[in-house]
Amino acid sequence: MRVIKTLDELAAARRAWAQSGTVGFVPTMGYLHAGHLSLAQRARAENDITVVSIFLNPTQFGPSEDLSRYPRDLPHDLALLERAQVDAVFTPTASGIYPAGFSTYVEPTGLLAERLEAATRPGHYRGVATVVAKLFLLVAPRRAYFGQKDAQQVAVIRQMIADLNMPISLRVSPTVREADGLAMSSRNAYLNAEQRVAATVLSRALEAGRVAFERTRSDGLVGAPGVEAVKQTMVAILADEPAAALDYADVCHPDTFAPLTELAAPALLAIAAKVGSTRLIDNFLLRADGTWDMGARLSQEP
Ligand code: PAJ
Repeated sequence: MRVIKTLDELAAARRAWAQSGTVGFVPTMGYLHAGHLSLAQRARAENDITVVSIFLNPTQFGPSEDLSRYPRDLPHDLALLERAQVDAVFTPTASGIYPAGFSTYVEPTGLLAERLEAATRPGHYRGVATVVAKLFLLVAPRRAYFGQKDAQQVAVIRQMIADLNMPISLRVSPTVREADGLAMSSRNAYLNAEQRVAATVLSRALEAGRVAFERTRSDGLVGAPGVEAVKQTMVAILADEPAAALDYADVCHPDTFAPLTELAAPALLAIAAKVGSTRLIDNFLLRADGTWDMGARLSQEP
């Protein structure tokens, strides 16, 4: 496995990859877990060369967010990627990606850049879109791999690829969960033992929302009151967990993030809540074909 630190080295490697076949790319911010590794495995299965980037992107963090305390462990990340048989890891510096004088951003607009995560984290998707566009240009992959865990990020990147005619195929993989249902996240490292137990409330609320969605729909209550009932089901589960504070529980279209006005596929159930000072997000997706993507739990076996 090759570790590439500079943009010059990457440019040389990219020219060599162009001769060797297709490149699959997995952008990350490090502190890797089984969710990240599932993306790398899929990239490996579908491409000749697999490239993972590890870059803690400062532009997607707000001034009062957790950039300075975001967990990092590069040696461990590299060991995991080596074991996953990734071909190359790109670990640029902040000044490599954002040299002095940097002043051009990719700015998502519209509902996607206004609702839910975007409302709580102003400027977040501008930072994400900018760094992902730069990484796409630098790595020049045929396919790029993202996790359904960050559903709004997926929608933003899908829209950016379409709007800017990027010749890249977006592949989205299901959320990898702990055995008790908690979506894997680098930020779970912030949780103490008690908070870790309380954090399962997000996936429990989504499951209750999913059941309510199916039941309400089969009861024929498909309009706005049905949507509201599903939302309230999720809100009630969150309200029952004193250690968690709800940010939003929403039922929206998975591509546009427009609020749903009727219970129909496709639909996204999305939740954000704070457990202690840690903000967690999770979602269940009802695909257009009527099947649910709720992610997959890791078995309890070691
Ligand atoms: P990061 O949070 O490190 O996540 C990197 C990729 O892993 C994202 O596509 C994310 O959705 C995916 N991922 C995270 N948890 C997952 C889980 N439990 N199951 C499946 N996939 C999971 O997302 C970012 O970094 C950044 O915003 C980035 C795209 C790298 C731009 O800086």
